[in-house]
Amino acid sequence: MVKKYDFLVIGSGIAGMSFALKVAHKGKVAILCKTCMEEANTHYAQGGVASVTKPTDHFEDHVVDTLIAGDGICDEKVVRKVVEEAPGQIKQLLEWGVDFDKNEKGEFDLHKEGGHSDFRILHHKDNTGEEIQDSLIETVKKHPNIDIFDQHFAIEIITQHHLGQLVKHTTPNIECYGAYVLDIRTNHVHTFLAKMTMIATGGIGNIYQTTTNPPVATGDGISMVYRAKGLVQDMEFVQFHPTALYHPGDRPSFLITEAMRGYGGILRNKKGEAFMEKYDPRGSLAPRDVVARSIDKEMKKTGDECVFLDVTHKDPEVTKREYPTIYHKCLSYGIDITKDYIPVAPAAHYFCGGIKVDLNARTSINRLYAAGECSCTGLHGANRLASNSLIEAIVYADAAAKDALKQFSSLDWNENVPEWNDEGTSLNEEMVLITQSEKEVNQIMQNYVGIVRSNLRLKRAFDRLELLYKETESLFQRSVVSKEICELRNIINTAYLVIKYAQARKESRGLHYTIDYPEKNEHMSLYDTEVLKKRQEGKVKA
Ligand code: FAD
Ligand code: SIN
Repeated sequence: MVKKYDFLVIGSGIAGMSFALKVAHKGKVAILCKTCMEEANTHYAQGGVASVTKPTDHFEDHVVDTLIAGDGICDEKVVRKVVEEAPGQIKQLLEWGVDFDKNEKGEFDLHKEGGHSDFRILHHKDNTGEEIQDSLIETVKKHPNIDIFDQHFAIEIITQHHLGQLVKHTTPNIECYGAYVLDIRTNHVHTFLAKMTMIATGGIGNIYQTTTNPPVATGDGISMVYRAKGLVQDMEFVQFHPTALYHPGDRPSFLITEAMRGYGGILRNKKGEAFMEKYDPRGSLAPRDVVARSIDKEMKKTGDECVFLDVTHKDPEVTKREYPTIYHKCLSYGIDITKDYIPVAPAAHYFCGGIKVDLNARTSINRLYAAGECSCTGLHGANRLASNSLIEAIVYADAAAKDALKQFSSLDWNENVPEWNDEGTSLNEEMVLITQSEKEVNQIMQNYVGIVRSNLRLKRAFDRLELLYKETESLFQRSVVSKEICELRNIINTAYLVIKYAQARKESRGLHYTIDYPEKNEHMSLYDTEVLKKRQEGKVKA
């Protein structure tokens, strides 16, 4: 069946829903999500949203903190755009009903996280994401121009390729006409035609064995765009969060927010020693790539499977009041965080790379935007500063909306798009073939493409993955299309790109650390030296 919309939005996280809300007054919008509206990385965010909101903080400081975390390859234009537009988008979130905590003076109760030189994280207790997700869902549901399609899985974006043309990476003016979408309830593939399409499919955490991401984060948008010959970038930079709750078997791993270290939490090894100062003078509040690598080193040195976060010296009542979700979750596992150390270990958390977009969130494919975690704007460079992603997602959704509204009325649907072709697919494969392959990808990525990499490990990962790729493509060609087989393909595709980009980077930078090239290449970006000079001259906060 063919459905026609002015705007097709793939993804119901902060990026997708905020884009939808900003274009819906001008046209009909369809929002797709592959499970329910609530299940998105956005829902799980704990720490909060970074923005300069108090008079003693400055844009320049937020810019510099972001550039330093990005380790020399952020795009400074993008950093300035996000930092300077952030307060306006915070106002927008408030208008949509998001409630950020305030202190007794009625000012925002700001937290500080690793790599930030000031208290600038707006939050709602320790469940900021849930507050944002719920408020946006409520607002979207009330909008008469927005139709929601949950349990709808986007399989491929539609381009000239589906009209029989040969499309290559070098083909000029590739265009997106919408997407083929599987209705999971009926198993029917619909053709969604759109004048403009927004990809907001979120992260890739599930290419790894241990991740803080919910199961929906399988890199679908990135893979769809890559298969459609769109550009991706910075695919080697996977951020591991240093402190996921160590509770083997949990998937996703429950996050212990970085804000807890801002609150005074101390990282200790099994002997109770505070070990971070050995690795970095900033201690437990060093940027998260440094902390994750230090924990990894400490665990390898001691042979332990986790380290510990200690907040037992803090006022128990404040801990319970400020971190209720974490308190109750840990208590359910028999850990009273006001008295016991919290066992933690790093887990794949955030993807800095993704679909390459410009300052208007345009991808390299015409009529196709990308925003949020699936996109790569240049904000994060080689490492994301804590709490910079929710704000990036909403700033870029806004940019895309403004750009799309200027153009969409001059566009029309492409009526020549054929329906989904499932010729020759009769097989309903045993599920075990899919689930087992997925586990194998997870292990390959965890063991060979994790926090510390090497040429040998990457080569081994590539060779193992190639076999899985061939098996899965052949399975896909023969099988009746299903969410599971599509996700496996996307996981393999994304993992392949991470490995290829990691192999190409012959240096260690930000989140990409390899024992074969432990140093940074000479060509540090200008921003690095400029930024460091400013800090040394005391022009920005240290
Ligand atoms: P998501 O919110 O992940 O939404 C993706 C959507 O795409 C989902 O609706 C999904 O169903 C849909 N989708 C995916 N594939 C398909 C498909 N094929 N077909 C149809 N629909 C599809 N960032 C911060 O700035 N501050 C924080 O404090 C913070 N804490 C975090 C804590 C945790 C535990 C995690 C996991 C992340 C955290 N992050 C934080 C990162 C941040 O939450 C994400 O980067 C951000 O929410 C991504 O939003 P998004 O809109 O791009 O994608
Ligand atoms: C956290 O709360 O530690 C996560 C913050 C983030 O991922 O930005």
